[in-house]
Amino acid sequence: MALVPYEEGALHVLQRFHSSDATYNFVNHSIRIKQNWKEMGVSAVVWDAAVVLCIFLEAGSINLKGSSVIELGAGAGLVGIVAALLGAHVTITDREMAVEFLELNVKENLPKDLQGNVFIKPLTWGQSLENFPTFDVIVGADIIYLEETFPDLLKTILHLSSEHTLVLLSCRLRYQRDQNFLDMMKEHFNVKEVHYDSHTDVHIYKAHRKGSQTKEL
Ligand SMILES: C[S@@+](CC[C@H](N)C(=O)[O-])C[C@H]1O[C@@H](n2cnc3c(N)ncnc32)[C@H](O)[C@@H]1O
Repeated sequence: MALVPYEEGALHVLQRFHSSDATYNFVNHSIRIKQNWKEMGVSAVVWDAAVVLCIFLEAGSINLKGSSVIELGAGAGLVGIVAALLGAHVTITDREMAVEFLELNVKENLPKDLQGNVFIKPLTWGQSLENFPTFDVIVGADIIYLEETFPDLLKTILHLSSEHTLVLLSCRLRYQRDQNFLDMMKEHFNVKEVHYDSHTDVHIYKAHRKGSQTKEL
């Protein structure tokens, strides 16, 4: 049974999730994401936080060209695809069980010449982190929702980040516990809200390791 990070009453959201695909336009590309809510749940649909983060990235808020980027909890892969279209070298990750579906969406939506810039890997937060280096940018959309994963999620972000890394998290803060994760982050990172989309109630936070030379958040 899928763990559902939203209010079950939101009928329009459910209708959208039950659609077998969803189409978006980013970076002059039509991106058609396959969805499979019924069989695969949360990791096989596109969440608002992903769309809002893609809009933020496309607006040029951060220059991703040539950067190494890792996406955590990528789900259907929209953010990773858009990061690659913006010129980043992207490692797109999710739990093992979500990787096959993720791979399908990424392969179908990336132009051939960019496929070499994208790696899809299983990454369950807190596990086998030694297989991963640090990255210029860590992105995550709607990954702050399972309280029991918070220590491992933080451990993962710490492992993947150096003093130069920018962390970008987009999320809805549905419950007080979600705010608790941001408080845990603040023990190690300078965290700043850089965008709020009132239509979807999605926040975007930027974070840098405390003590890093990067002054601008
Ligand atoms: C709400 S979905 C968001 C998916 C996608 N980022 C988006 O915004 O469309 C949360 C994602 O986190 C992943 N996830 C949950 N727990 C995880 C864990 N312990 N390790 C890695 N990924 C996890 C799920 O598989 C799912 O893809």
